[in-house]
Amino acid sequence: MSEKLEPIKVADVGDIEDEEAIVVDGATNGTGRDIAVFFSDGKYYAIDDTCTHEEASLADGWIEGEEVECPIHSARFSLCTGAALCLPASIPARTHKVELRGDEIWLHPGVPVEGAVTQVTA
Ligand code: FES
Repeated sequence: MSEKLEPIKVADVGDIEDEEAIVVDGATNGTGRDIAVFFSDGKYYAIDDTCTHEEASLADGWIEGEEVECPIHSARFSLCTGAALCLPASIPARTHKVELRGDEIWLHPGVPVEGAVTQVTA
């Protein structure tokens, strides 16, 4: 990420059902890559929408607790850190900070969540 992107409002609280996600497309969020914003167990998370294994939308996956399972080959990712938790994915998904401003959900594209996995570990 070469330049700092502005945070954007992506939804209001209540717009994303529990264990659901919305996709903020790459042109809108400024990163050029689609970002999925998840709501699960009362918390919001954002990671890159495209699975790091092949082309699949993680927003269409199975969301449970702090994890999402890819709808194509069932790799699981941590919504907190972006870590790939099982094969066939081994590359972490990039995380993005989500902030609540009153009842508005704001996304900070390209700002990783603290503690996020950013490197592939051998
Ligand atoms: S496309 Fe996601 S695990 Fe293969």
